[in-house]
Amino acid sequence: MRKYKILVVDDEHLIRWSLEQNLKKQGYEVLTAGSGEDALKIVQEESPDLILLDIQLPGINGLEVLERVKDFDDEIIVIMVTALGVLETAVQAMRMGAFDYVNKPFNLDELAIVINKALETGDLKKEVANLRSVQSHKFGVTNIIGNSRHMKNVLAMVEKIAKSDASTVLIQGESGTGKELIAKAIHYESARADKPFMAINCAAVPETLLESELMGHEKGAFTDAKVQKKGLFELADGGTIFLDEIGDMEPGMQAKLLRVLEERSFRRIGGTKDIRVDVRIISATNKDLLKAIEDGSFRNDLYYRIQVIPIYLPALRERKEDIIPLTEHFVGHFNREFGKSVKGISKMAEKFLLEYSWPGNIRELKNVIERAIILENDDTLLLEHLPQEIVAKAGGAGAGPLNFRLPADGVDIEEVERELIRQSLEVSEGNQSKAAKLLHLGIDAFRYRMKKFGFL
Ligand SMILES: Nc1ncnc2c1ncn2[C@@H]1O[C@H](COP(=O)(O)OP(=O)(O)OP(=O)(O)O)[C@@H](O)[C@H]1O
Ligand SMILES: [Mg+2]
Repeated sequence: MRKYKILVVDDEHLIRWSLEQNLKKQGYEVLTAGSGEDALKIVQEESPDLILLDIQLPGINGLEVLERVKDFDDEIIVIMVTALGVLETAVQAMRMGAFDYVNKPFNLDELAIVINKALETGDLKKEVANLRSVQSHKFGVTNIIGNSRHMKNVLAMVEKIAKSDASTVLIQGESGTGKELIAKAIHYESARADKPFMAINCAAVPETLLESELMGHEKGAFTDAKVQKKGLFELADGGTIFLDEIGDMEPGMQAKLLRVLEERSFRRIGGTKDIRVDVRIISATNKDLLKAIEDGSFRNDLYYRIQVIPIYLPALRERKEDIIPLTEHFVGHFNREFGKSVKGISKMAEKFLLEYSWPGNIRELKNVIERAIILENDDTLLLEHLPQEIVAKAGGAGAGPLNFRLPADGVDIEEVERELIRQSLEVSEGNQSKAAKLLHLGIDAFRYRMKKFGFL
């Protein structure tokens, strides 16, 4: 295992010496500095993993050293050493990015524990970076179900875009059609996969905040800008930025985004330096942008910039061939999640799933299957575990029984009753007590009618 490098900063020689001895014994490589100035020099030359930093130093004090260290490399872990009783300074240090603080005089065993925990946390953060490659597997094209001709075209397009250097993509489609899933697939199938995928919902963030989220700001750029902050464009350098709900972006921000796209560079708020980054911008919206352009809420020029490559995701009702494969996919997924073993879908359930109009698209289907799997104790997914609106709305909006209108030339009421008995048996897949319940009849009354109409 690699030896961790720890820098001890204290103006008292004796403390430096005793800490050095102690930490070396624990297997660390130890560097020491007697002043803030020295410490900063060593940080730049040696890039230590962790710094034990005394707050009270002659010359530049501990807090200032902390700030400069964090500016230099945010990953260096800093533990502050404070005199007992100056809690306020410790709190301030934590706010400025210190990992923890210990009080002087300290107990060496306690210190060892704090250092250990800090280094472990640092390692975890690095592991997160490695996990990105695992994400790549999770979000690849193979996890996207699409049997319909239209989805096959979309998936072929995703692979082509991923391999290309195309920098702006616009994904359009109703809510729940898989826009974010497609955006992630483009990123994780591309050479950018080991760089960040940064998503932001443009509708949820007010304009001023959105600008600082995207472009970042310099320290002091506005009242709350206590420290310098990098924006998503910088953080996503080399990777992909996902601008979700771009149709809801406010006009002022649209103008600023347009400028970034045109000039391929930007400035942090309050900054004077032009920053260039290499990011792929994927935007998504469930709004009809052409209509938004017409009514003046979306800029025409921005539209043409972001939709260099357009992808249109059709509503689920326009690709019914995908409904059953998606259902099976989600059955498998939720079986694993809830420890169930549902093997198939009953014919009736299938029929209603296919007939329903799915206004919430794939997200709605996923939720419906999740609920059904939770409720199901059988090995087949049954119609009775689908929500009422699917059973009621299937066959076209408003086709419920109460919408029945008496035809002008009248109707044979026995025929109507017979048809209701037939339908209730169909919906309940032959289960008489369920069918009886659907008609609000007792089982005897129901069976009486079954006999009467020749179903028994
Ligand atoms: N083709 C697909 N195969 C498998 N799962 C899918 C597919 N399309 C969508 N999903 C799943 O459906 C859910 C909704 O998808 P997603 O969040 O990408 O939709 P969206 O278009 O971004 O929706 P919204 O407009 O509401 O933000 C997600 O859980 C996603 O994993
Ligand atoms: Mg989305």
